[in-house]
Amino acid sequence: MGPHMKLRQPFPPMPLPAALLLAACNVPAAAAPELSVFGGVLESRDGMVVSAYPDASRAGAEALRAGGNAVDAAVATGFALAVTHPAAGNIGGGGFMVIRFPDGSSTVFDFREKAPLKAHPEMFVDENGEYSSRIHHRSHLAVGVPGTVAGFALAHEKYGSAEWAGLVAPAVALARAGFEISERLAASLARRLDAFRDYPATFAQFFRDGEPYRAGDTLVQADLAATLARIRDRGHDGFYAGETARLLAAEMERGGGWITEEDLARYRAVEREPVRGTYRGYDVVSMAPPSSGGTALVQMLNVLEGFDVAAMGANSPSHAHHLVEAMRRAFRDRALFLADPDFADVPVERLTSKAYADEIRGTIRAEAAGVSRPADVAGRPGRDGTETTHYSVVDAGGMAVSVTYTLEGGYGSYVTVPGAGFLLNNEMGDFNARPGLTSERGLIGTEPNLARPGQRMLSSMTPTILARDGELVAVVGSPGGRTIINTVLQIVVNVVDFRMSPADAVASKRLHHQWLPDVARLEDGYMSETDAAALAAMGHEIAWSTRQGIAHCIFVDAGTGALVGVPDPRDGDGTAAGH
Ligand code: DON
Repeated sequence: MGPHMKLRQPFPPMPLPAALLLAACNVPAAAAPELSVFGGVLESRDGMVVSAYPDASRAGAEALRAGGNAVDAAVATGFALAVTHPAAGNIGGGGFMVIRFPDGSSTVFDFREKAPLKAHPEMFVDENGEYSSRIHHRSHLAVGVPGTVAGFALAHEKYGSAEWAGLVAPAVALARAGFEISERLAASLARRLDAFRDYPATFAQFFRDGEPYRAGDTLVQADLAATLARIRDRGHDGFYAGETARLLAAEMERGGGWITEEDLARYRAVEREPVRGTYRGYDVVSMAPPSSGGTALVQMLNVLEGFDVAAMGANSPSHAHHLVEAMRRAFRDRALFLADPDFADVPVERLTSKAYADEIRGTIRAEAAGVSRPADVAGRPGRDGTETTHYSVVDAGGMAVSVTYTLEGGYGSYVTVPGAGFLLNNEMGDFNARPGLTSERGLIGTEPNLARPGQRMLSSMTPTILARDGELVAVVGSPGGRTIINTVLQIVVNVVDFRMSPADAVASKRLHHQWLPDVARLEDGYMSETDAAALAAMGHEIAWSTRQGIAHCIFVDAGTGALVGVPDPRDGDGTAAGH
């Protein structure tokens, strides 16, 4: 363990696969990044990466160790996750990166997928003229033009400091030589045995002789290694032109998808202005549209700021009630207004203003639930898994990077590009289903987020950075569809209002409300049955969920200034790596 590093809390005994994994790591102990394996909290002064897989956190920490900055480490981690965390790590999907520089300035990168040029608002309708959930969510038409490689290349070009090839190289090696499969990954893949049979390239990539891999086996992905090598050698063009683009377009044509080589050639990631807000003296920097995340987060924080949240007590009926009422209103506005800002006029300034929050607060009653009216415009049903991934990076100079990226559903469209070895997203499912189509269960038919050529679909991803008095406080984010925004909200409230330790702020149980359906979904153990009865007595319908989010975060210890890496204990493979 390095001189500036210590474990914050005792680890549980290391499970066998982790022990093997570390043993298999052929680097002299003195040179290897320090890892916390399986959820342990790690402290370091010299840089930190927290991600969903040990090898990916290690790749990021190696980039820091080699002198790279946080953007370099974020690129290395992202490519490594595309190999080791195939459910959500990706080069065939998209996402967002929020950067805070040591001088306190900030920026964001939007590498969200785009609709192909042939897209139109009625494209998810079947031959009988009916809306088809299958077309919308699980077909070649569900695939958006991927953005991840363009996003990493642009962020690196503008703010990276290390050589690009060296940042992609660890991912090439993990794909070519293979990496050790964790128990969690083995189980996740085994669950898809039947589902993947209809997708031969995917089945061949993730099963051996038709049988599931076991924990401890090595997964080699030769085609993916070749694709990553092209990206290593040619950067953006290694994906959007040449062999990779040809293979992707050929698979689209074969499967009835619409993405062409022209769509790929035209794709560009965009640097945008972050959404900024304040909460009780803390500065919040988060993602701008086409994510709804930052806007809804700041809107809800502004509403809560006018209440004495600390006095309510964490996870009390009163706390839960005020959270739900802030969520109800923010998610209604999300449905009404949020979409790709290149296509819709999104009133971010008004939605994130303190004045608007004052208005909203005036409509919240102290002990009585509000009403969600589908007639206002209906929301989509709760279909939020955890298959997106968030990772956090801070370097020794204080640059912080918060990345959330995804394939949408777990393993995206299930379509692997034959010969190129990477899974394609099913992100088109994040567009509204069909103009005017609203339902009590809640499909949305509002205009702003309809599929149009080149438009980006609305997201909830909320990579966020918290600061105070010019100093970094935390790097936060999570998977989980619309629950993401509420997960990040509650971590911020836990830190600011309840003064929780980093580990508690992440581990603490969460709740989710998204306006429609009008149900407060509480994580098991969120509150006692007596408190839940008190919440119900205010008029809230309550449901329970097993898990909300996987927030791999980094905090700065206010006393010592040390970086505290907190992998969410909800995820068995989450790993903090420092150097
Ligand atoms: O962009 C979004 O908000 C979603 N595509 C994220 C999906 C996710 O977190 C996993 N849940 N299905």
